[in-house]
Amino acid sequence: MVRFTLNGQAVSSDSPADTPLLWVLREELKLTGTKFGCGIAQCGACTIHLDGSAARACVTPLTAVENRSVTTIEGLATPAGAALVSAWEAEQVPQCGYCQSGQIMQAATLLEQNAQPNESDIVSHMDGHLCRCMAYPRIKKAIVAASQAMAGEVSGE
Ligand code: FES
Ligand code: FES
Repeated sequence: MVRFTLNGQAVSSDSPADTPLLWVLREELKLTGTKFGCGIAQCGACTIHLDGSAARACVTPLTAVENRSVTTIEGLATPAGAALVSAWEAEQVPQCGYCQSGQIMQAATLLEQNAQPNESDIVSHMDGHLCRCMAYPRIKKAIVAASQAMAGEVSGE
């Protein structure tokens, strides 16, 4: 039995130790916001936060999360997460939407580390997150908008 915290709640799983976390989240715990794309850490669709850092759930074995904290798109409740979701809606970023939860989870870790990223920071942080609909320009625009909204909140604008 592996115990961990998921979106702030204590959960457990008795799946085999090497089961990818992605399957546990989607099939066992019924959180389907985290998507399966490639299964080999090459697309970013399955990105979650593990103790606050971005991780790819398709290659994270269940045992790796024992006694740790996992956050999925359903539990992304940070100021950066809220700013990103608003910006994503305002900029109408998604096309098919399949890659989007992974993109937002990755972008949230950028804004947590660097609230005012420049274009090169954004490109390098989001590198490896594939979007078959080519929404990259809107993704970048929304990250910039989210960072500006966060700066406005801090300065009281
Ligand atoms: S499904 Fe995990 S990186 Fe593609
Ligand atoms: S919006 Fe379709 S894959 Fe990114």
